[in-house]
Amino acid sequence: MRQLKPNVYAVGAIDWDARLFDRLIPLPDGTSYNSYLVRGSEKTALHDTVDPDKTEVLLNNLMRAGVDKLDYVVAHHGEQDHSGSLPDILLMYPEAKIVTNPKCKQMLKDLLSIEDEKFVTIEDGQKLSLGDKTLQFVFTPWVHWPETMSTYIPEDKVLFSCDFFGAHLATSSLFVDDEATVYEAAKRYYAEIMMPFRRQINANLERLAELDIDMIGPSHGPVYDNPQFIIDAYKDWVSDSLRNKVVVPYVSMHGSTAKMVSHLIEALIDRDVEVRQFELSTVDIGKLAIELVDAATVVIGCPTVLAGAHPAAIYATFMTNAIRPKAKFASVIGSYGWGGRTVEQLTGLMSNLMIEFLEPVLAKGEPKEADFAALDRLVDEICAKHKEAGITN
Ligand code: FEO
Repeated sequence: MRQLKPNVYAVGAIDWDARLFDRLIPLPDGTSYNSYLVRGSEKTALHDTVDPDKTEVLLNNLMRAGVDKLDYVVAHHGEQDHSGSLPDILLMYPEAKIVTNPKCKQMLKDLLSIEDEKFVTIEDGQKLSLGDKTLQFVFTPWVHWPETMSTYIPEDKVLFSCDFFGAHLATSSLFVDDEATVYEAAKRYYAEIMMPFRRQINANLERLAELDIDMIGPSHGPVYDNPQFIIDAYKDWVSDSLRNKVVVPYVSMHGSTAKMVSHLIEALIDRDVEVRQFELSTVDIGKLAIELVDAATVVIGCPTVLAGAHPAAIYATFMTNAIRPKAKFASVIGSYGWGGRTVEQLTGLMSNLMIEFLEPVLAKGEPKEADFAALDRLVDEICAKHKEAGITN
């Protein structure tokens, strides 16, 4: 059993083979479902459970740890990768009470049909004594559901933050041992599920600044024994600052849109603008999401097919709109055969974004001299807009 602090243990499960979360989010490096056991001098509490697929691992870990009685199971979040084993835990430890906030209680009742008498509800800031250790509950809403909360143990200066600060990363290391790897996994995680709530996250970061935190145990990925590393990363991601960067997700059926994308990319590089190009029929959507965290502009490369935008571009645009990046400018470039509503379709899918649309560039068939000149004008406009907005790297 792996120990974070005296009588604080990691008892969750590593999921090396998981490759898709929610049948939506790619997991190139697997993930973990962290569960933490805290043994006080009088009471014992488990913090979160694991995905139902890994219930056996959690139950075995608790047996191996010699846990014959559980007083509390703190549920920080209703999503089932952390709450899904609760029914089995309650069968194994029928005396245990689920400690959570009123919103999470309702979700657990809805999702898992757990009876009312199994719950102890707590309020923001409330404390619960385990004897020589105290659980102090800190409501941290919208990381990434409305009911999410964290637990702070003042005696150990440990924070259990659940999804907040998490990283989909399967690793045998209990603590972060390679900050570069964890940074990328945590940024991917932030981009995919946290980014729509960056204002609320900022408020949560301010709230946590009141606590003296020595260690953060998230519910996915390794434990942060240098918590400032991930707190500083989050501060940067949620800030309003943008990079002089253009992200270009594109798809091309017969090469014409690809030629336009290549021309645009080269012209941007010539102007010292950072670019990231993603081919949408093969893209890892998480990589695209990472780059959207701080890019100032998005240019979608999309041909017209069936009188509208290519479905791969529609999907990428829909996802971009859903994760609400802070980009300020967008445009569409692409080739068409005879006509269609490609631009209207794509711009119509970005209604969540506070974005200024720049003049699109559409080429009839293969791009010609006039189309390349229009792409150059678009690059000029992007550079002017970035400069005007004070976006420089
Ligand atoms: Fe890791 Fe929102 O569940």
